[in-house]
Amino acid sequence: MEHVAFLLNGTQVQVTDAPTRTLLDYLRETRGLCGTKEGCNEGDCGACTVMVTDEGGARALNACILFLPQLHGKSVRTVEGLTGPNGEPHPVQTTMITHHGSQCGFCTPGFVVSMAVAHLNGDKDHDTTLAGNLCRCTGYAPIIRAAEAAEAAPVPDWLQSSFISAQVLSGDRGQTAPGAFRPTTVDELAILYAAHPDATLIAGATDVGLWVTKQLRDLSPVVFLNGVNDLQTIARVQDRLRVGAGVTITDLMAAIKPLHPSFAELLRRYASVQVRNAATIGGNIANGSPIGDGPPALIALGATLHLRQGITRREMPLEAFFLDYRKQDRLPGEFVEAITIPTEAPTLRCYKISKRFDQDISAVCGCFNITTERGIVTAARIAFGGMAGIPKRATSVENALIGQPWTLPTITTATAAFATDFQPLTDMRASAAYRLTVAENLLSRYFHDLAGTPTNVLEVQP
Ligand SMILES: Cc1cc2nc3c(=O)[nH]c(=O)nc-3n(C[C@H](O)[C@H](O)[C@H](O)COP(=O)(O)OP(=O)(O)OC[C@H]3O[C@@H](n4cnc5c(N)ncnc54)[C@H](O)[C@@H]3O)c2cc1C
Ligand code: FES
Ligand code: FES
Repeated sequence: MEHVAFLLNGTQVQVTDAPTRTLLDYLRETRGLCGTKEGCNEGDCGACTVMVTDEGGARALNACILFLPQLHGKSVRTVEGLTGPNGEPHPVQTTMITHHGSQCGFCTPGFVVSMAVAHLNGDKDHDTTLAGNLCRCTGYAPIIRAAEAAEAAPVPDWLQSSFISAQVLSGDRGQTAPGAFRPTTVDELAILYAAHPDATLIAGATDVGLWVTKQLRDLSPVVFLNGVNDLQTIARVQDRLRVGAGVTITDLMAAIKPLHPSFAELLRRYASVQVRNAATIGGNIANGSPIGDGPPALIALGATLHLRQGITRREMPLEAFFLDYRKQDRLPGEFVEAITIPTEAPTLRCYKISKRFDQDISAVCGCFNITTERGIVTAARIAFGGMAGIPKRATSVENALIGQPWTLPTITTATAAFATDFQPLTDMRASAAYRLTVAENLLSRYFHDLAGTPTNVLEVQP
């Protein structure tokens, strides 16, 4: 049986565990590395944060929703692996002590690992890098002060050499365990999935992980996509960006920022650093969630979805993919290969409304892309998440705007059409009435936003 091999705190390990065993369980139960904590076991709290390094650099990931085959050829450092060979503390550990950044200490290993990754990468936006780490007793101010105090310290020598290339590790490809596959090319994936259409595809596992940790499901057979490098590319093709299905939200955010800053800001509020480092745009689309943040922005942009089944490829406007609640236009053995996104959309604006500002699922996500010529609306693409069983365009509102002058009276008239487009549900995130009112208000927010009036809570000054 072939195996999964990776570096754990600098030492090579080989595992032949069940393919959906999580790194967190492996660390705590098999290796006795109990510094990595289990809080929520669903990616929400960051208590299980580990540092994972590969050719792309070091990133923070949640070990609780990370399966062992996703680590093949990589280097993992837990909180135990942050200290030096003679027990020297990492600079962020020292400053956590001097700035009183820990009380009960349960969250502390996760914070320290997130801080060490940010320190290694020279990332000083601590509010963002720590948004996925929850602390219930210390309060965040001392922790942020500790992160700031460590900024000037050099990266310890023992962390500089923590990567080993995949080639050094044996067992590079193939079946990791009975019923588990790890293809390395998209052609191989296409053949495999066509032959095993009942298999569960696993990309970042930020959804699938919870099927195992919370629903205790047996997913066999499984196909891991993380080794398929040609699914992870981003390329400019004329006036479009072609984004492979395996591109993470973190990498998409970086590529999209210069083109569509509002979309990038929406992605910055998508979950946390740890989740964005794992989650892929293909998984975000394929899971068909009505509250996913990627699809509304992509639909408003006019993105095209590329599907593949064996050697057959087809494409469609993204909105056509979502048929009904959790039902997509996808054939057995067919997978998302890529999405292409127009590079020009200067009036695109995306608004995420959630109970918490950071690390929360959208109650409503509204994305607007309206074109005017000489003051008249000539084209409109408006898409919402959280307003229906699928991510959906507001076609009645769009029709009420097209051909009209771009003025507040037009907005007020068009607002009534939201009730034609959407009959939202009441759930734990928001009531139906709240959702409809929010959608209506977002259209006027968009109008004021384009006029240059500050509308973001971070921009509006008292
Ligand atoms: C704590 C937490 C917070 C979150 N917050 C947000 C948020 O703010 N906004 C948001 O939109 N989402 C959020 N999510 C949901 C999740 O991150 C996304 O849905 C994610 O993009 C899924 O991508 P993945 O690569 O992890 O997919 P996986 O979990 O690996 O797979 C998801 C589904 O897609 C299928 N799949 C994956 N790749 C492909 C492919 N190429 N072709 C066909 N099928 C495929 C899988 O079989 C599975 O059915 C959150 C999740 C967690 C755990
Ligand atoms: S235990 Fe909470 S994110 Fe992993
Ligand atoms: S120190 Fe107790 S939860 Fe953070």
